[in-house]
Amino acid sequence: MHSIKRKLYIETIGCQMNKSDSERIYGMMSHFGYDTVSENEADFLIVNTCSIRQLSEDKAYSKLGNWGQRKKRGEKLVIAIAGCVAQQEKEKLLKKFPYVDLVFGTQNIYELPALLNREGRICAISDKPYAEKEYKIIRNKNINAWLPIMEGCNNFCTYCVVPYTRGRERSRSLDVIIKEAKQIIKEGFREITLLGQNVDSYGKDLNDKPTFAYLLRELDKLDGEFRIRFTTSYPTDITEDVIKTVKEGKKICECFHIPMQSGNDRILKAMNRRYNVDEYKNIVRKIQNEIENVAVTSDFIAGFPSETEEEFKDTIKQIKELNLDYSNTASYSPRPNTPAGKMTDKFIPDDVKKRRLNELNECIKEASFNSNKKYVGKTLEVLVEKINFKDGKRMLEGRLRNNKVVHFQSDVDNIGDFVRVRLNEASIWCLFGQKAD
Ligand code: SAH
Ligand code: SF4
Ligand code: F3S
Repeated sequence: MHSIKRKLYIETIGCQMNKSDSERIYGMMSHFGYDTVSENEADFLIVNTCSIRQLSEDKAYSKLGNWGQRKKRGEKLVIAIAGCVAQQEKEKLLKKFPYVDLVFGTQNIYELPALLNREGRICAISDKPYAEKEYKIIRNKNINAWLPIMEGCNNFCTYCVVPYTRGRERSRSLDVIIKEAKQIIKEGFREITLLGQNVDSYGKDLNDKPTFAYLLRELDKLDGEFRIRFTTSYPTDITEDVIKTVKEGKKICECFHIPMQSGNDRILKAMNRRYNVDEYKNIVRKIQNEIENVAVTSDFIAGFPSETEEEFKDTIKQIKELNLDYSNTASYSPRPNTPAGKMTDKFIPDDVKKRRLNELNECIKEASFNSNKKYVGKTLEVLVEKINFKDGKRMLEGRLRNNKVVHFQSDVDNIGDFVRVRLNEASIWCLFGQKAD
């Protein structure tokens, strides 16, 4: 693999954890002399893959197909597969894609420079968590920085591949996280999003067992003008202390992403989720009652194996009752290694899944519109993230502390500014307002 000229492009598919990994790879490779370039200019191409659904897996394969064509046409390229599909499929990928030079897993990121010095086609997948190395990080965005606090999952929901691709839960040390947060603030970022498959498990595996709430408080104390967000929360792991800390924290944003997955107790059990509908509702109600202007968002799966029409309707009913602010939806996709993936005789036909997904989406649209309407008339702080020009007007786009998107006109404010905006119109996915005096 010696022939590369050191121009790197990473195509990143999947969640923020993958995006954060790519930023770390870019940073590390810049240390070894690689420039970050566009896809067409690159001679070293990595696809950082996601395996959460077949659709995400297929995206990677189609990207690889394009790159394979380029190689066939004579371009001297080194092609690598990283991420969750690499972790799941291992050597099989080298067989399947003869033009791929390197497959490396989610736990082998820091070996990449050494792997490139080895001869031949290589597959490097380790099940043991990696030891971090300190390189600079080349971040993708200017205002929002991702900061992983823990990785992996011990929950084994029956549909989900993550415990197999990211391994068991492990936390980064408090010191490392705080040092990285300070660096992020120093570099001028205005928002830190703490990442973990289950942020509430933070610290359980560390020596002095710092809690997630404690970590939040330590970060809230840091000097500077910035926001703190976090994702994802597991419903029954959210503690009173976390709720109180979000309520009292100055920088901690009032926003919880708490996937419910289904609104039916039998399905939740079959999914191996450790809560029932009432328990989920109690947690959400408590958060909604205790924290002003809080947003609670969720994820739902349509057509989990064996889900009946009545059971699906329960989900619709719960979404309506819960006043959720926004939810992601997906139709169930069978995943390798998972228990639900083996329930082949209980699979729901594709057309039924599709219809249920559409129904879910309609319901979520309505919930999102209802939630946005509640903000009309309020004046709240917006962090400006983008400038758009519309009909000659300079429109700013940003987000409220609870993550809702706001558009407003201003000729004086800029990206990175915190601006008080009076909200005067709601649409399904965002709010419109004007700068308050
Ligand atoms: N750790 C988070 C979710 C991580 S995966 C949690 O516990 O909720 C992100 C979302 O992808 C999940 O919330 C789920 O809704 C969806 N998902 C996971 N596996 C899936 C599958 N096999 N088919 C469809 N959607 C899936
Ligand atoms: Fe997947 Fe469940 Fe873990 Fe979330 S909690 S990552 S859905 S196994
Ligand atoms: Fe996908 Fe892996 Fe994230 S499967 S959702 S990239 S942890």
